[in-house]
Amino acid sequence: MSKLWGGRFTKPTNKLVEEYTSSIGFDVKLALHDIQGSLAHVEMLGDCHIISQEETSQIKEGLHIIKNKIENEEVEFSVEQEDIHMNIEKLLIEEIGPVGGKLHTGRSRNDQVATDMHLYLKEKTNHLTDLVEAVQKALVHQADAHVDTIIPGYTHLQRAQPVSFAHHLLAYFWMFERDKERLQDSVKRINWSPLGAAALAGTPYPVDRQKTAETLGFDHVYPNSLDAVSDRDFILEFLSIASILITHISRLSEELILWSSQEFNFIELDDAFCTGSSIMPQKKNPDVPELLRGKTGRIYGNLMGLLTLLKGLPLAYNKDMQEDKEGMFDTVETLDGALSLLAPMMESMEVKGTNMRQAVNEDYSNATDIADYLAVKGLPFRQAHEVIGKIVLYAIHEQKFLLDLTLDEYKEFSELFEEDIYEKLAPEQVVAARNSEGGTGFEQVAQQLELAKQHVK
Ligand code: ARG
Repeated sequence: MSKLWGGRFTKPTNKLVEEYTSSIGFDVKLALHDIQGSLAHVEMLGDCHIISQEETSQIKEGLHIIKNKIENEEVEFSVEQEDIHMNIEKLLIEEIGPVGGKLHTGRSRNDQVATDMHLYLKEKTNHLTDLVEAVQKALVHQADAHVDTIIPGYTHLQRAQPVSFAHHLLAYFWMFERDKERLQDSVKRINWSPLGAAALAGTPYPVDRQKTAETLGFDHVYPNSLDAVSDRDFILEFLSIASILITHISRLSEELILWSSQEFNFIELDDAFCTGSSIMPQKKNPDVPELLRGKTGRIYGNLMGLLTLLKGLPLAYNKDMQEDKEGMFDTVETLDGALSLLAPMMESMEVKGTNMRQAVNEDYSNATDIADYLAVKGLPFRQAHEVIGKIVLYAIHEQKFLLDLTLDEYKEFSELFEEDIYEKLAPEQVVAARNSEGGTGFEQVAQQLELAKQHVK
């Protein structure tokens, strides 16, 4: 098959080179965006009298036919035509004859491919935003049922202070809220149109870039043609946002894995989201959260890959840039899969509130509250801390928890202790007492939950 750029060449392309330089194997994912861009371009060519209305209609019709064929999987793309852009142009010419060759007037594959990627990423960013929100809804749903469920809160993975389980879940809600905001904010910068920048320098044809931008739903046109075809910041930004997002998914997954272990036994993931072992009949493995955690590597890798790809590139287009696509597609698809699973998995997980509460009975996470008790009675907090440290050491030695010590034992350490110390030490009271804004006190958590609900549709 002849090349669209064959005129200057005297020899056919080496087969290995053809395969090596071809991108059709992956940029086929841009097919419909490419046609969308071409339709906007050809309409503008007609309106600006660069081609006739008759030619415009013929080309538009041809593009629609090809679009249908692609949607019905009736076309075969070829490596000989290198990439999606030339494949579609070739199909167009086959479909409507030489007039199809007028489509590429005033345009280059350089502004064309950039336009396609802007269109693709805008669509996917909006879609991923919705998927993040579905995860948030699942979190809100679980949180709603567990404001009063008490779980140990940790620092250094050591029991620290008890918290409401809803509070713990809502911490993830706000991480995802920021992810959602970042995704939406990035659309502002995806929404710039490179179309009409042509190869690098603009075009002598009287193209109307504002018009194509408007047709394609972009808010701006790139004011500099060199920047328009060289810019991949919008993909870098997406990959950065994706990396932060998958970090949150991974941290949550890690907790799900820990909590569903026999050691914690705080939750049980639904059978539908777990798998078994081929040898150990008793196993129920949290494969899904493990894979979600594992997917982090490829998403960070895709960000590093593109940063490295771009760092030394001179302006404007370089073939290196063809390598910008696979990492972007992979990141979009990986996130799509991860978020689509995370939402129903969170929704369906069983929360073992009794075990969580029992865990709090068997630790020293109310120690801060005894220090606060003495501090309120006038002892400087630093001295109170020292006294309670000694009480904890004594209790560990006696194999007792803080609620098990008698008032006489307490009084050995400080005369300030009275009978009311016991109500202060009850985990419900310990949680409720933290009624500072944004704290885990039940009242605060209920307010936080209301606020969270306002952020999901
Ligand atoms: N397949 C190419 C890419 O993805 C399209 C742009 C080609 N431009 C060029 N001047 N060779 O980067």
